[in-house]
Amino acid sequence: MSPTPVTFASPTAPSTYAWEATNEEVARRYGLRVDEIVRFDLNTSPLPPEMVGRILAAGTFETPLSEYPPSDYARLVAAAAARYGVATDELLVGAGADEILDMVGKTFLAPGQAAVVLPPTYSMYRVVTEQRGAAVIDVARRPASDGWILDADAVRQAARSAAVVWLCSPNNPTGLPEPDGVLASLLADIAADADGDARPRPIVVIDEAYAEFVDWSALGLRSAYPDLIVVRTMSKAYGLAGIRVGFAVAQPAIIARMAPYRPPGSVSTVSVTVATEVLGSDGVARDNIARVVAERPRLVAALRAAGLTVHESVTNFVLVGLGSAERAGQVADGLMCRGLVPRTFGQGHPLAAYLRLTVRARAENDRLIATITDIIGAAAPAADPEGEAAP
Ligand SMILES: Cc1ncc(COP(=O)(O)O)c(C=O)c1O
Repeated sequence: MSPTPVTFASPTAPSTYAWEATNEEVARRYGLRVDEIVRFDLNTSPLPPEMVGRILAAGTFETPLSEYPPSDYARLVAAAAARYGVATDELLVGAGADEILDMVGKTFLAPGQAAVVLPPTYSMYRVVTEQRGAAVIDVARRPASDGWILDADAVRQAARSAAVVWLCSPNNPTGLPEPDGVLASLLADIAADADGDARPRPIVVIDEAYAEFVDWSALGLRSAYPDLIVVRTMSKAYGLAGIRVGFAVAQPAIIARMAPYRPPGSVSTVSVTVATEVLGSDGVARDNIARVVAERPRLVAALRAAGLTVHESVTNFVLVGLGSAERAGQVADGLMCRGLVPRTFGQGHPLAAYLRLTVRARAENDRLIATITDIIGAAAPAADPEGEAAP
């Protein structure tokens, strides 16, 4: 077996996050009404939790809208700590997980340092690393046929020259968690390689944006690996991407190092109120996950029946292989001109031949299924419908 490619890239200009077109842009480009457009590209939920309507209608927020939110977000921190089963000094609040990733970069990365990124994965790890002037060490995941799991030996080796290791489980955009025990033993191996000041333990980030969709969390590993930061969000299982609330969970010493980089008041008092109440009530994430778990197999089966290669997923999105970047582009365009926005990956990306599709509400998924079946039926069959680009 040939060794896994491990490449160093010194940034010239930092990478940027590539958004899909906005609803307004799609509407303008294809002559559609804005209210016809459905977003299958953002791994969000069709509706916020029911209780949010009541909270907003009551109009009583953590502080009056004329005031800043409490500087310590104390009630939100307490609600999150209770929900995740951690102490309040093990938590840091951010405007979404994205702001947490940014704070990790600001705290732990500097020019001349390096961070390990495992493509294909969430693109912000590269963006944050390069924005700090640090180098990315790419360690490719294993191929699609292995479920894109991480290559533990290669990650361990790369971690020896890194200040930060960015992990993501379940991984976006591939949809699966690492197999049982892999993260625990990887952390143990990385810790064993550390050698005091000569080779300090790197910060290991485990982004658990989709953790509620599986039964396991890395939170329990923070005592075994003191430099672990677990990232959580209200955007996915809680259906609250619009309120922008995320958390870092780590040992108090790590939280204390990150805290100076937390912008004051980046989470609005409305968001603080909604997040605190939602985290304090049982069953919100559970109900949303139940919708996804009911819809996902139906969507997967229908897309497969249409002749598409759909990969297993435990999350609220699925990855669909189209065999070539050209065909993925054609199908994406066919969907967009009918008002359905998929996630594309662009030329040169290891997933250029794929689209990622969010599992939405039943009627929206039906519209997606009918549209994609129509597009696929009308197009010439792919030369190799099972063809998968190696990541
Ligand atoms: C793996 C991962 N991390 C972080 C984020 C950003 O989450 P947030 O909305 O909390 O900023 C996303 C959003 O898609 C994600 O998929």
